[in-house]
Amino acid sequence: MNELREIVLELLAQLGSSREARQYLKEFSSVEESRFAVVKVGGGILRDQLEELASALAFLHRLGLRPVVLHGAGPQVDAALAAAGVNSERVDEMRVTTEEVMGIARPVIYDQNTALVEALEQRGIRARGLQHGTFEARFLDQDRYGLVGEITGVNLDGVRRAVAAGALPVLTFLGESPSGQVLNINADVAARELVWAIRPHKIIFLTPSGGLLDRDGRVISAVSLNNDYDALMREPWVHSGMRLKLQQIKEMLDGLDDSTSVSITSADQLTRELFTHRGAGTLVRRGEDIETLEQPDAAALVDVAQRVEASFGRHLKPGWTEGLVKPVLLRSASRRAAAVVVEGQEGYPYLEKFIVTPEAQGEGLGAALWQALRARYPKLYWRSRNANPITPWYFLQADCSERHGPWVVFTNGIEDAAQRERIVREALSRDPGWVEAES
Ligand code: ARG
Repeated sequence: MNELREIVLELLAQLGSSREARQYLKEFSSVEESRFAVVKVGGGILRDQLEELASALAFLHRLGLRPVVLHGAGPQVDAALAAAGVNSERVDEMRVTTEEVMGIARPVIYDQNTALVEALEQRGIRARGLQHGTFEARFLDQDRYGLVGEITGVNLDGVRRAVAAGALPVLTFLGESPSGQVLNINADVAARELVWAIRPHKIIFLTPSGGLLDRDGRVISAVSLNNDYDALMREPWVHSGMRLKLQQIKEMLDGLDDSTSVSITSADQLTRELFTHRGAGTLVRRGEDIETLEQPDAAALVDVAQRVEASFGRHLKPGWTEGLVKPVLLRSASRRAAAVVVEGQEGYPYLEKFIVTPEAQGEGLGAALWQALRARYPKLYWRSRNANPITPWYFLQADCSERHGPWVVFTNGIEDAAQRERIVREALSRDPGWVEAES
């Protein structure tokens, strides 16, 4: 097992740095085995990307991780109903499930379950189809929806036994009444109830789009519910499907630990999403609050100075904190993201230091801090070295930028050209505050 794990780690290293991969593997292995992740897969993925899905899950299994897989079969059931000439209505997002519909749907769902289990076993991975016994349910409203269930309890015995045997549990959205009547369950509700019962470290939604999309159809890398949720819900381009998804995720995360995160990604990007800081998909977390210390005390400044030194890998001159002119400190609750603003030229605020650890960047903390900074300082100037990896990102955040030798000076909200010129000159003359000579 260990040798295999080494090979797999080497493979992972090719995705990003092996340090990142090892860090995440350690993190994912630190929770109880059955609590690593719940993976929700739509029927469309089973139809179109079964191979990619099976290989991504097999990969996790080889690393010793045991995700709990929950899958649908919507398109397959639709096709079978159409082939049989049976109409099925949808009421309140639920498929009205007559006996006839259930008679057609049930074998299709079992087939899909078996197909995934077999695809895994073909890769030498133990998998167990749990077609019954997990979701305990009663009729939601038999007159209205037919054989549709409302979950009354989640029984994890099967899941735990599978994991203990080294097998991946593969579940469907079917439940049973106490007397054994099979009931159809809404996929989102089933996912939520399973997640609340397991309390996994990661919740993974595999979708064909590979994440939540912004107005230009690009994947949004990270959403911090504390900082972005209200603004996103106000955006006109956030269409109803995405609105609903965000609401459901928020509700789901509200009951769980702060460290829990949701990743929305595609089957073929799953490994990259899980084992790199940057990820590949959308990471949704509850997120951290950003606090603003208008008059930070010495301890807070010393703390941020240490983080600045760690982040840049160099030393600040002694007395750096005392030399700051009217400093204001903005920082995230974990302090992995922080900004120091001082009073600069003509009283304008100058962004003295801005730091975000790499994994906090992947969580979207840098963007959240920037948002807070922007709200507090509509007018701001700062500078960055050409070679600094964050410089390209600053270009996207600034109204104006000017290159001067190794430096770029950025300004926001400073309209007057003559004034801007004075400000740029002052920025270039500033002491960067490091002990070591600038290279
Ligand atoms: N690998 C980490 C995780 O899965 C971070 C992923 C970051 N992903 C992103 N889309 N920003 O928890």
